[in-house]
Amino acid sequence: MEAIAFHTTQYFIELSDLAEARSIAPEKFTLGLGQQQMSIACPPEDTVHLAINAAKKALERFAISPDEIGMLVVGTESGVDHSKPVAVYVHQALGLPSNCISYETKHACFGAMAAISAAGDWLISGRAKNRKALIIAADIANYALHSAAEPTQGAGAVAMVISDQPTLVSFDRATAGYFTHNVMDFWRPLYAKEALTDGHYSIECYLDALTHTLMDAKPELPRLSDLAACLYHVPFVKMATKAHQRHFEFDQNLSLDKESPNWQRLLQSYQAKTQPWLEYNARVGNIYTGSLFLSLMGLLVKGNLEPDQLISLFSYGSGSAAAFSLIRPVAGYDRFRRQIDPSQDLAHRTKLSIAQYQDIMQQRDQLLTENDRIDPAYWGLTAPYLYSGNRAHIRQYSDFL
Ligand code: HMG
Repeated sequence: MEAIAFHTTQYFIELSDLAEARSIAPEKFTLGLGQQQMSIACPPEDTVHLAINAAKKALERFAISPDEIGMLVVGTESGVDHSKPVAVYVHQALGLPSNCISYETKHACFGAMAAISAAGDWLISGRAKNRKALIIAADIANYALHSAAEPTQGAGAVAMVISDQPTLVSFDRATAGYFTHNVMDFWRPLYAKEALTDGHYSIECYLDALTHTLMDAKPELPRLSDLAACLYHVPFVKMATKAHQRHFEFDQNLSLDKESPNWQRLLQSYQAKTQPWLEYNARVGNIYTGSLFLSLMGLLVKGNLEPDQLISLFSYGSGSAAAFSLIRPVAGYDRFRRQIDPSQDLAHRTKLSIAQYQDIMQQRDQLLTENDRIDPAYWGLTAPYLYSGNRAHIRQYSDFL
């Protein structure tokens, strides 16, 4: 991986405010789910907008020319069209070469990991011809107001450049575990604007998939003690806690509860290998396929890694598909901390009241019309225009307040 950058929405809510509005103890959201805030997408922010902005940052901050990109894949489950991929809008907005292959991948939160795997194969196939792959994980997680899943929404995009000159991390091609199993844990049928989920069952499916990928990765699977960091798909922070417990139990061949003598060892392992990298996830919410890579950004910004230390990645997409894989930091990766750090993006968001948030959720589809979506001034913008938020010609949420 040669570049990584994040973009999120201009608005967010505090989960303690949401808890108060729903007459729920705030600790259920902040401790029980581990979430602090949630990014909220407002027109003209949709998946295309998030993807374009993340990709522009990745190319500009890592000084990569659009001409160097030969493959563009957007992993998403919140695309804007049944037929036309988000990728083609990104292709136009970034001015990528016309001989660049581009498409969209979908398997719930597994879409971007599938795209990274395809990019790795493309790089070693000989067809890349010294060009690089731009992979974007972009999503808006949307559940019904007042549902149990409501506090696990979010919105954002992570753009990554994958090349044979990695400067951040390299992918270990020898070790991988896969699992596919048709389950109804989370889905969004064609008629639905919001995702439907059997929430508690989805947690079981996620953990079951993790166990199967660990089994599939044997005999190359490293011991937990050989891993410097363990990253998991993060629909909400507590899910990564549960995942690390399952990983620990698999590694130690035991089953734990809070009374177990090994519980403290589990906590120490979690606090050393997973918890410190989850701050951005706690502030952004679930960004579906990008969530795993947002915690990777946390690790790259805050971790003190030695070159070639092993880091595990677990990707889970409901429905379901999962992969366990390994990466290694590249020597000198830490000189890019400033370019990677998404703290400024988070600090610049504006807080919404719960009344404003509900208003947006109810009107979002009407606010962003097809006319906005096809407005060339929106898609073909120059970078400063996109970053400035100067979209006077496009209706803003504030126009409706
Ligand atoms: P719920 O049923 O309302 O919550 O919804 P709960 O009753 O299970 O409580 C949650 C936690 O808060 C529990 O902790 C409680 O004990 C605790 P746990 O026992 O699990 O450790 N709690 C409190 N803690 C402190 N103080 C309190 C308090 N009260 C309770 N006062 C649920 C939770 C996650 C089910 C819901 O939000 C949901 O359905 N979310 C969406 C589904 C989801 O995120 N599933 C995750 C696995 S599937 C996945 O990751 C894929 C996905 O990203 C989609 C894709 O692939 O595209 C979702």
